[in-house]
This record gives sequence, C-alpha cells and structure tokens, in this order.
Amino acid sequence: MNYNVFFSPTGGTEKVIQYIGRNFSCPENIDISKTDLPNYVMNADDFCIVGVPSFGGRIPKIAAMRLRQINGNHTPAFLLVTYGGRAYEDTLIELKDILEMQGFICIGAAAMVAEHSIVRQIEAGRPDEEDYKELDHFIIEIKKRLQDEVCPIEVPGNTPYKEYKVLPMEIRASEHCIKCGLCAKKCPVSAIPSENPKVTDAEKCISCMRCVKICPLQARSGNPAKVEMISEKLQKICQPNRQNEFF
Ligand SMILES: Cc1cc2nc3c(=O)[nH]c(=O)nc-3n(C[C@H](O)[C@H](O)[C@H](O)COP(=O)(O)O)c2cc1C
Repeated sequence: MNYNVFFSPTGGTEKVIQYIGRNFSCPENIDISKTDLPNYVMNADDFCIVGVPSFGGRIPKIAAMRLRQINGNHTPAFLLVTYGGRAYEDTLIELKDILEMQGFICIGAAAMVAEHSIVRQIEAGRPDEEDYKELDHFIIEIKKRLQDEVCPIEVPGNTPYKEYKVLPMEIRASEHCIKCGLCAKKCPVSAIPSENPKVTDAEKCISCMRCVKICPLQARSGNPAKVEMISEKLQKICQPNRQNEFF
C-alpha cells in the first residue's frame, strides 16, 4: 500500500504530494491537519510519501506532533518540504529525524519552492511547469531506488535545530464574516470556536493561513501592520526564482 501523508494548511504541499502519489499505485491519503487523526502502522512493503511546509525553517509544531502517530516498520519513505522562497533551514532534517525515529527509512527527499502562504506574491505560480519536469526526473530515480536495496539518504540541516519561532499574524475576522463556520471546521489546531468564528484563540493559532485562504467571503486576514512588515522584510531577503533541491 502507498500512503500520502501531508500537513498542508493552504494546499501547496498537498498539491505536490498528490502529484508524486499519482506515480505510485492507489495511494491512501492521510491528512495530518485533521484534529481527529487516528494512529497508523505501516509495513516494510508499504511506501510512504510525507510532505510538510517549512514554518520559520522548522516543521510546524503540530505537524511534528501528529507525525508521531504514524509508525513505520522499515517502511521506505519519500520526504517533501515546501517553502516560500526564503529558506527551509532545518525542516528537512527534522522531518527525516522524526520519520527515522518512527521506523521509516528515508530513501529520497525534495525541498521545493512554492508560493509563500503569507505573502502570496513571493514565488507566486510555483511550483510551475519547470518544477514539475524536475520532479518527474526525480520520481524516476525514486522508483529505481525502491527496486534496489533500500538505503537511507542524507539531507542538509543542523542539529540542534534552530529555535521554533513564528511571528503571530493576529488573524481576525472582518464585518463581512457571516459565521458560516468553515474556518472553525478546518482549523488544524481548533483555534476558532464554531459557535463564534469571529474570535480566534491567539494562544492556539499557529498563523498557518488556512482560515484566511479558505474563507468564502475573504473575511479573514492578519494584522495589516504585521503583514506589511513581513511582506517588506521578505521582499528584501528572498532571492527570486530559487531552485528546488533533490536528495
Ligand atoms: C507561519 C509560516 C511560516 C513560514 N515560514 C517560512 C520560512 O521560514 N521560509 C520560507 O521560505 N517559507 C516560509 N513560509 C511559507 C511556506 O513554507 C510555503 O508557502 C508553503 O508552501 C506553504 O505550504 P501549504 O500551502 O501546504 O500550507 C511560511 C509560511 C507560514 C504560514
């Protein structure tokens, strides 16, 4: 059995995971943004494709926790990190370390550039046709590796990992909110109460931007001053057209 495992608040990571998964037969999807995630155990003859976005150069904390509910048993795994053109720093090594601890053998990994989910002009349109062509070549290589003796790979990153620091975006709802409750239902950390979706629990919110992206009335947004500040900072430091990396 093949599994697609993903944490993808705004859909960029899931899109790439689904693309990779289509190259392997009948994948079962495991969306670890769900709050009622059951435990899973995979076997040596399964194959697992796991994708997360980089948040501040690390795995989103809740994704790192939920990955601990997924166990392998010498199960080969393909790792994907998407990032918004700044840097992915220790995300890939952290993902590899967690998966190895959970009984997986990491046989391949990709760090792919995707639209920045806070400042969407940055790397807008990525991954594009060229990115998918590169990925196609790598998928061929992964298929070869699966047929050969399964060998663990090395990925870049530092240990100890950099400190997990994500600037809170102070997401709020505007007067356009009709309390439809979609954001409350889909929030990966239950930070929005369904009885009053106009409120966001700042302690729980991870600023993942899902509620902002999925709101049918575009009634949710970050604190404009913070969005502006991040936008200016990122526009300065992000080099355009960053390259994907494959390991
Ligand atoms: C809270 C937060 C922190 C982020 N930190 C980084 C980062 O450190 N480096 C980077 O290049 N992109 C960063 N991004 C951009 C995301 O990694 C990127 O847009 C990713 O593809 C989003 O995945 P998704 O569409 O599956 O949610 C961050 C986005 C968010 C919401």
